[in-house]
Formats: sequence, C-alpha cells, structure tokens
Amino acid sequence: MQSAWIGDALAAALARDSKEGLARQLTRQLRQWIGEGRLAAETRLPASRDLARQLAIGRNTVIDAYEQLLAEGYLETRHGSGTYVCALFKRQTPAAPEPMAALGLSGRGGELSALTRRDDDYNGAFVPCIPEIRDFPHRQWQQLLARHQRQARLLDFNYQAGGGLPALRQALADYLRMARAVRCHPDQILITQGTQHSLTLCALLLADPGDAAWMEEPGYLGARVAMQMAGLRTVPAPIDEQGLNPAQVADPTPPRLIYATPSYQYPLGVTMPLARRLALIEYARQANAWIIEDDYDSEFRYNSQPLPALQGLSEDARVIYLGTLSKVMYPGLRTGYIVVPEGLVDDFRAANARLHPEGHYPLQSALAEFIGNGQFARHIRRMRDLYQERQHCLRAALVHTEASEWTWSSGHAGMHVLATLPPRLDETRLSQQAAKEGIWLSTLGKHYQAPPDRQGLVIGYAGVAEADIVRGVRVMDRLARAQH
Ligand SMILES: Cc1ncc(COP(=O)(O)O)c(C=O)c1O
Repeated sequence: MQSAWIGDALAAALARDSKEGLARQLTRQLRQWIGEGRLAAETRLPASRDLARQLAIGRNTVIDAYEQLLAEGYLETRHGSGTYVCALFKRQTPAAPEPMAALGLSGRGGELSALTRRDDDYNGAFVPCIPEIRDFPHRQWQQLLARHQRQARLLDFNYQAGGGLPALRQALADYLRMARAVRCHPDQILITQGTQHSLTLCALLLADPGDAAWMEEPGYLGARVAMQMAGLRTVPAPIDEQGLNPAQVADPTPPRLIYATPSYQYPLGVTMPLARRLALIEYARQANAWIIEDDYDSEFRYNSQPLPALQGLSEDARVIYLGTLSKVMYPGLRTGYIVVPEGLVDDFRAANARLHPEGHYPLQSALAEFIGNGQFARHIRRMRDLYQERQHCLRAALVHTEASEWTWSSGHAGMHVLATLPPRLDETRLSQQAAKEGIWLSTLGKHYQAPPDRQGLVIGYAGVAEADIVRGVRVMDRLARAQH
C-alpha cells in the first residue's frame, strides 16, 4: 500500500461506535497490515498531524498508536524524515501457489498467445522497420506539443467521437491527395492508434468470421494476427516479382478481404507495377472483395517517383487505404489513419469511438501544425537521404564478405532489404547466434503462414548508425562462415 492511500484505508477500517478505543484500533489495524505485507517494509507513514486531520481524530491518538508500534518493533523512525514500517518486514518470497485449475486462456487466447509470444526486440541492428528516432526534431516537436497542450480548449479533455481532430484530418487529406494520389476528403479520414488498430477495425467491420482473407505470403504478421483474431480464415497469397498475384492463390474460395503492401512489399521488398495494380483491383471487383492497402513506408523511395496508391486507381472505391506515422515520425506516437469509402464513414467512426474511445486532441492539433507548416515534409526528406546513405553503408560493408554472395533485394525503397540465403545456411541458427551478440536478424521463415519455400533474413537498416551497421555485418559474416 502506498503511503498516500493509508489514511483512506484507515478511515474505512475504523469503527467509531466500537467499544475498542480509536488508538487501539489504529494500532491493531496497522500491526495487522504490516504482518500481512499489505504495508510493505520501509513504507513511510503519514505524519501524525496529517493522519489525525484526515481521520478527524485527536493527534495524540495517532501518536499513541505510532509509539506503541515503535515499541513493538513494527515501526522505526528516521531522524528528520518521519515514521516508517520497520525494514525487518522485508517481503518474504511467497510460497509457490497451488497449481492452477484448468481456468486460463480461451482457445482464441491461446492462439493469439502462440502467434505473438515471440522474443521480439525493437532496438539495434538490424530490427526491421524502425526509423531513426534519434534524428527526429525532438526539441521543436516538444515545443509544439507544449504550446498545443497549453492552448487546448476544455472540450479537448473530454471523450471524442469525431474520427479525429478536423485540422489533422484536413492536413492528412491534403498530404495524401498530393503525395500519394489518394482520393479523399477530410471527412473520410479516421484517425487511429496506428495500422494495427486500423487492421483490427477493418477485419471487424468488413468481414464475418469464417470469411476468407488473402494475406501476402510471406507477409506482415501483424496483419495476419488482426485477421485471425477477428475469426477470418487467412489464405496465403503468394508474392512474385510484381507483388501479390491473384492467379497463384491455390484456395478457390473468393476472398472477402485482400491485404496488400503494394508500395514496398513487406518483407520481400518488391513494388507492384501499374498493370498488376489494375489487375488486382479488377480481380477484387469481380470477387466482390475489399482490398486493404497497407501503405506503411511508401514515403521512402530512393530513385523513382512513387506509384499512385491503389486507392486512387480504384474507380469504385473498393480499396481501404491505411497509413501510419510510425515510420515517418516515430512508432511510439501511435498515430495512423484509415481512408474510409464515403458510404462507410459513419459506421467506422461510430464503431471506433465505442471500441477505442478517442482522445489526444491537443497532440493531434500539434500534428496538424507539424504537417501543415512543412516540418513533416522536411523531416521525411532528411530521413530519405539518411536511409539511402545507410543502405549504401550496408552494401559497402558487405563487399568481400560471404554475405555479398547471397541474393539481396533491390532496396529501391523502404527501410529494410531482404537477403535470400543459400540452402546450406540455416536462418534460425544464424539468427539465434547473432542475437547472443546483440544483432537482430529477423528470419524470413517467420513471415510465412505455410511452410516457407526459401530462407532469408530481413535486414532493417534505417534506424541503425553506420558503426553498428558495420559491426552487424561483421558478426553476420563470421557466423555464416562458421556454418560451413
Ligand atoms: C507492413 C507493416 N505495416 C504496418 C506496420 C506498423 O504500423 P503501426 O506502427 O502503425 O501499427 C508495420 C510495422 O513494422 C509494418 O511492417
């Protein structure tokens, strides 16, 4: 029990009409709580004057109780700083609990746990998809945040149900129309806590349990988790050199949802060309399916203009566009958005406000200014240059290593590259050994739902300083050579 709560707990425990005097009750109650461990060793007790005032009893009553417990060794005083529970009452290690009866996770809970309990680490070389958070303009951002927090209206502190602050929805709509050729007006934008949240909403609102959802194979685990936990049947949709290929899906059931990362397929790193984009939209139209376009890192392209988003190419609005600020700003911001087709906006907004009540309007207001005043675009340009340099550094470090003989994806965009390993190497062993040296080599295998047809490593370089890239490559090379 924290000392701040002691007065409240005592107020509830004291029986004013009891024959037992108040000092005795206080003594007994405190003694009992100390013995049970509810009042932990070294907890500071309230000053006698404060406790007496809080309990509306005489100060001497409190002093009598404290002195009694001091004499019994339950309490101790520290010169000049007050009365404490005696350090000797350090918590004993509790006895091992009885084995739990069969009450535990549900079947779905067990499935979710199996999918998500991985030893993921989000720091260092070469964790995929982490931006360089050290180079974010933290000082300007803090100032902006502080100002918007100060200027917040009283209403901004209440529950919200508008789908996000209008100014932020406006700023994002302007950005998406210009930079990504997305067709949208601000009312179609729903602010979320990131793509993971957006995916869950789409799965719940656009498909029923048992419906087929095509998932890129290999693909983003977060998307598969969202679909499976909404009860959908995830169907692997193989990726070829142009991205998701409807002709290669073995399962004949028409899907209700098709999840795709056409700008820079995660994790293979291929970009879907225009003809395939149009073919996928046409396929979705005929199958009466929704396409969920996860445009997670399209801002980072190094030698070409981005292709227009699928959403902008679809005449009949069957693409749901998901964006995130996790990569272009920082993941801890937990802000993303969905561009919802016009006819569904009210349903999405209402469901979201009930499932994930909105808030953070002062932060959204700061974000709207950050985007509107050009800082956002400037930061993206700086990061694009930095990530390109880092990819050069990675490729330079690979020269004369064993890894230079592996097949590397083009890296023309994004924040990671894929290394396809020759069959003689074991991706899991490589990754486990590297982890012991603080290097994170994400195996390609864990991005598959069905058994993988190749081995590889997904190498994130964007958030890794050059010295760490060089060291990481050295470790990877040594471990790969040792596997011969
Ligand atoms: C393909 C893909 N989509 C989405 C995300 C995450 O987005 P958010 O942080 O907004 O949930 C990631 C993160 O790594 C990703 O790789």
